[in-house]
Amino acid sequence: MKVHFPNEETKKKHTPVIEAPSTVKKGEPFEVKVIVGKEVPHPQTTEHYIKWVSLWADEVEVAKADFDANNALPIVTFTVKLEKDAKLSALAYCNLHGLWHSEEVEVKVE
Ligand SMILES: [Fe+2]
Repeated sequence: MKVHFPNEETKKKHTPVIEAPSTVKKGEPFEVKVIVGKEVPHPQTTEHYIKWVSLWADEVEVAKADFDANNALPIVTFTVKLEKDAKLSALAYCNLHGLWHSEEVEVKVE
């Protein structure tokens, strides 16, 4: 098994970034954007690409998006709803460099 030791640029290319409101209304839909390669774009070719991104609320996977190697960028907006406060996080999977985890984003429910 190959083990990767990421440098700063590799981290910026792969780590998903979550954009979400800090406060939402209970049970009402809101948008969460997940961006891979926000600062440094990740390649999207047959040889090297982000295959999928998933969004988590605490320990529950709430949404997942698959990307074509050549025709889609790893940027996605999910519409979700929450019943209680949650920590959102995202995973991104690169076919060459494996799984990457975002920072957690706290969303308060009013
Ligand atoms: Fe990669």
